[in-house]
Amino acid sequence: GECVWFEGIPFPSREFPSGHLREVQENFLIKDEDVLLLTYPKSGTNWLMETVCLIHSKGDPKWIQSVPIGERSPWVEAFRGYNLLKDKEGPRFITSHLPVQLFPRSFFKSKAKMIYLIRNPRDVLVSGYFFWRSAKLVKKPQSLEQYFEWFVQGNVVFGSWFDHTRGWMSMRDKENFLILSYEEMKWDTRSTVEKICQFLGKKLEPEELNSVLRNSSFQAMKENNMSNSSLLKGQYLEENGELLRKGVTGDWKNYFTVAQAETFDKLFQEKMADLPQDLFPWK
Ligand code: A3P
Repeated sequence: GECVWFEGIPFPSREFPSGHLREVQENFLIKDEDVLLLTYPKSGTNWLMETVCLIHSKGDPKWIQSVPIGERSPWVEAFRGYNLLKDKEGPRFITSHLPVQLFPRSFFKSKAKMIYLIRNPRDVLVSGYFFWRSAKLVKKPQSLEQYFEWFVQGNVVFGSWFDHTRGWMSMRDKENFLILSYEEMKWDTRSTVEKICQFLGKKLEPEELNSVLRNSSFQAMKENNMSNSSLLKGQYLEENGELLRKGVTGDWKNYFTVAQAETFDKLFQEKMADLPQDLFPWK
């Protein structure tokens, strides 16, 4: 696995060559009716995608069980996703891990709705360690200790969590912007789904909402071959790799040493202290 650099940030070269990233930034046309799902990798992207797709189909699982997740809400920065999106008529669901400064320029003049999903970066780190360790896309970390160093230095694909989060947070006062957290999704899934419905202007009957919740659960997603790791095995993931690994909050406590926890707290404080702390509900 190799990386390619674009504007100072490493990307997995196979899927995101820098010429393509430039093309996306300069020429991809965002439409007012688009819905953007934005995350730093390992923040619960696929969960959000599945949830939004189910809300769209009013809880009917037909769509999520017949079309691969990456075709329902393609990654605009990936070759394949870009082509799928470019040719699609009407409103689109678009997923992206791009930092705000590399996002398609047309977006900043559009009224497209965007949801930014944030997750405790400590859990993002642990999730990322297990994922990239068994991914075929980039250099595999040899230990959690090594990945911890890479992560705190921002020397990871899609760049520093801190920069990514700060960048997108700068949009937070826009009315077409909704910030959600993995933690609130986990702790109060129903209210979060209701929040998304309201934001997207979708009204669901109680039994439709129940079906959204049932079909987007960790277990349901693990069993859905259109959403689980089986899509990635072979080309992108080793056999032992899991997209749906544990699906819990606070797993970092099982892995960080006391020293790592302290280092991380200090860094978080340094980088994020000036933002409203209610953006970070895991505290
Ligand atoms: P863990 O590795 O901590 O288990 P992404 O989709 O951005 O790559 O994020 C992957 C993380 O989201 C993984 O975290 C995965 O288990 C978790 N996840 C995916 N679907 C989920 C669901 N339905 N409920 C809870 N967590 C989910």
